[in-house]
Amino acid sequence: MTPGAVQQSGLSLRFAGAAKSYGDVEALKPTDLTIAAGEFLTLLGPSGSGKTTLLNLAAGYQEPSAGRIFIGARDVTHLPARHRNIGMVFQNYALFPHMSVVDNVAYGLKVRRLARSEIARRVEAVLRLVHLEGYGQRGVQQLSGGQQQRVALARALVIEPDVLLMDEPLGALDKQLRRSVQLELRRLHEEHRRTTIYVTHDQEEALVLSDRVAVMRDGRIEQVGSAGDLYDRPVNAFVAGFIGESNLLPARVTAIAGGQAQAEVDVLGRSLTAAVAPGLQPGQPAALLIRPEHVLVGEEPGVTAEVAEIVYLGELTALNLRLESGATLWARRITSHDLRRGTRVTIGWKQEHARIVPT
Ligand SMILES: Nc1ncnc2c1ncn2[C@@H]1O[C@H](COP(=O)(O)OP(=O)(O)OP(=O)(O)O)[C@@H](O)[C@H]1O
Ligand SMILES: [Mg+2]
Repeated sequence: MTPGAVQQSGLSLRFAGAAKSYGDVEALKPTDLTIAAGEFLTLLGPSGSGKTTLLNLAAGYQEPSAGRIFIGARDVTHLPARHRNIGMVFQNYALFPHMSVVDNVAYGLKVRRLARSEIARRVEAVLRLVHLEGYGQRGVQQLSGGQQQRVALARALVIEPDVLLMDEPLGALDKQLRRSVQLELRRLHEEHRRTTIYVTHDQEEALVLSDRVAVMRDGRIEQVGSAGDLYDRPVNAFVAGFIGESNLLPARVTAIAGGQAQAEVDVLGRSLTAAVAPGLQPGQPAALLIRPEHVLVGEEPGVTAEVAEIVYLGELTALNLRLESGATLWARRITSHDLRRGTRVTIGWKQEHARIVPT
């Protein structure tokens, strides 16, 4: 390999109409999704939306009720987990508590009956990779949460998996530690480009790590795309609300043409034209989406509002603005101390920053 070249490891993973039901509960509705070889995809979604179910189907811990799953070109739909070369990091580490670090990490290699010298070599290398060299002989209970998390990661990586699955791996860590392990994960991914599905509740974490993000709700992928796609062009109010901050004002769409909607926004007391999410039909429940950083304060001509609340966030200030209708929206801007509570302002936005989305 030439110096600096990125090693590409892993195979693609494909869900073709894959679904999972438990009795009446559709934990995963029929899903088509391809994760390219070397891609890092993050699943974001509320509790119960089907994230773990999707990972379990990929790993082979559960069989789909319908559809097929492929790793590379191979149909693995009915292949038992132990015959899939997949590394899984569970939310709760799932380490063997009475074993040392080395024995925990070596476990998957022993199961695969590798030679003892090969096991020792690989375990040493992977412990170096996760910065745990020197900790091999410790019991895992003598480690901090972050160290245990890295043992769990080492254990998944040591088998050189075709696909790496991580289910909220940093959930138990405090914010600072989370940040440093996040950067570590990103470094590892940049070096090794292993096909990865990563589950988190933390949108910031998703943005730091991922090539693409999939937002799930009620067993379905609502939208999948780059973080920028999801932020700028959410397909509905749910996705908009899940990625970043958003103002969503109820809107009635009266006409749609050429990707633009004409909508009545009663809380603004006016009608306007804005880009529309694909598939939305006139008459369907909808909202006007404007991100807080796109709300311009003190712009003429605009909509009249009153500053209801001011929240200093350091460099930025968040303003809660009450419209004459009583509805409120948030603006964010560089901190300046020219406004106080009760100040009357006019607000506006550039047309390209407004979007009509289904609710
Ligand atoms: N073994 C099971 N038997 C019955 N229902 C299940 C089972 N496992 C999951 N479910 C249901 O399937 C749905 C999806 O669960 P899943 O564990 O995939 O959610 P999740 O997105 O991982 O949630 P969380 O963020 O809380 O981990 C939920 O409604 C859950 O109650
Ligand atoms: Mg889960």
